[in-house]
Amino acid sequence: MLVALKTIHIMAIAVWAGGLVALPSLLRRDEEMPSRAAIVRLHHFSRFAYDALVSPAAVLAIATGTGLIFFVVADDWLYLKLIAVAGMVGVHMLIGRVLDQLESPDARPTSWKRAALLAGAVITILAVLVLVLGRPDIPESWMPGWLLEGQDGELPFISDGFSAGSLSSSVPGRETPT
Ligand code: HEM
Repeated sequence: MLVALKTIHIMAIAVWAGGLVALPSLLRRDEEMPSRAAIVRLHHFSRFAYDALVSPAAVLAIATGTGLIFFVVADDWLYLKLIAVAGMVGVHMLIGRVLDQLESPDARPTSWKRAALLAGAVITILAVLVLVLGRPDIPESWMPGWLLEGQDGELPFISDGFSAGSLSSSVPGRETPT
């Protein structure tokens, strides 16, 4: 199951990441293309690639990644990876927005916009890959204090005087860090 899930995860990522890198250069203005027929074909192709290939691959990558969390011991790098994945989702949505704008006759995606989308895609994809393949230890000092301490609040669905702080300090070997 783990192998199947990871295989689908990596295949979906290949399509998603490939799409994010390829799509920005396809967001062309009318006057950059030799003919009206060429621009219509290009818009149909990029819309199809975005809607039918890249977006479903993104959903599959996130769904299988979420499934994988239940099979592995998730360390701190995973939380940083999720921030970088959120960056990929942001670039994905911006590409969709420019594609929508291209359907209006006065759409003018500039070349710096395309370059910014490509740079955003490359940076966020590389960040995810460095984090997932390098699995760096995150220094504790980077964590906000409230993440490392029990908050002494009531836990939902648990009564009898248990609180987050008292629970963690009552479990042997799980003393609350100070
Ligand atoms: C919400 C999105 C995602 C979640 C929750 C997620 C979670 C995970 C988890 C839990 C693993 C297993 C790690 C292990 O075996 O210890 C994994 C593996 C992997 N993920 Fe993701 N992932 C997500 C998106 C991505 C994206 C967008 C990329 C690439 C751009 C990526 C690249 C990889 C790679 C290459 C592996 C295999 C690592 C290895 O086996 O050494 N993941 N992911």
